[in-house]
Parts: sequence; C-alpha cells; structure tokens
Amino acid sequence: MALITWKDSYSVNIKELDNQHKKLIDLINVLHDSMKEGKGKEAICNVLDQLVHYTATHFAAEEKLFLKHGYPGSQDHYLKHQDLIEQVSSLQKRFESGESVLTIEVMAFLKDWLTDHILASDKKYTSFLNSKGVM
Ligand SMILES: [Fe+2]
Ligand SMILES: [Fe+2]
Repeated sequence: MALITWKDSYSVNIKELDNQHKKLIDLINVLHDSMKEGKGKEAICNVLDQLVHYTATHFAAEEKLFLKHGYPGSQDHYLKHQDLIEQVSSLQKRFESGESVLTIEVMAFLKDWLTDHILASDKKYTSFLNSKGVM
C-alpha cells in the first residue's frame, strides 16, 4: 500500500500545483517502496536526489506565482520553503554518508514534511491566487 494517498483535501485548487504535489507524493511513495523492497543505497539515493530536485522546482514555481501576483504571505512562505529544503537536504547528506538509513520513522517524517506543509501553508494561498485568476 502506498504511504501517501492523494486526497481532495490536499488540493490547492490550482491544477499545475496540484499536479506537482501529486508528483512529490509519488516520489515519496517510490522511496517508501524502495525501502520496503530492501533496495540498495544507490537506488535509494537516486530517488532522494529526485525528491530534493523536484522539491526545489516546485517551490520555485509557487514563489514565482507569489511574486507575479503580490501574495501578501510570500515572505513567511518563502522561509518555510527554505526550512523544508534544509531538512530534506540534510536527510540526503546523512543518507549518502551512511550516517542514516531509511526507516519507517524517516518515511513518516517525509510524509508529514510534505502533507503538513500543503495543509498548513499551501492551502492559505488558494483564495488569493484563485481571486487573481490562477486556477
Ligand atoms: Fe507546495
Ligand atoms: Fe509551499
């Protein structure tokens, strides 16, 4: 069973960003499957690398929309993105150096890392961006 299943409550009502969130969910689910199947370090590092890169791409897409439309919560949101990038990059470094291994706890951390941000921060921009015609 997948670790994270998309729910309508995750929707930010902006198609492009929902699709990006779905892709991030997919990557975390692939990582979870790799862990369960006992895949090697190289395979896992590869998925973690994709997760780190796609996260940066996704955050940049949100920030570009904030700037374009003058979203008032952009500064606070930007700092949250920086913090999330640091958390996942540090996990990647610890994993690559062999200091950490993927465990159920690490996977639970990644699940919350993504879903808490969508629910607590991303959903706050929906009404503002929708009112600017971004859907
Ligand atoms: Fe997001
Ligand atoms: Fe965000």
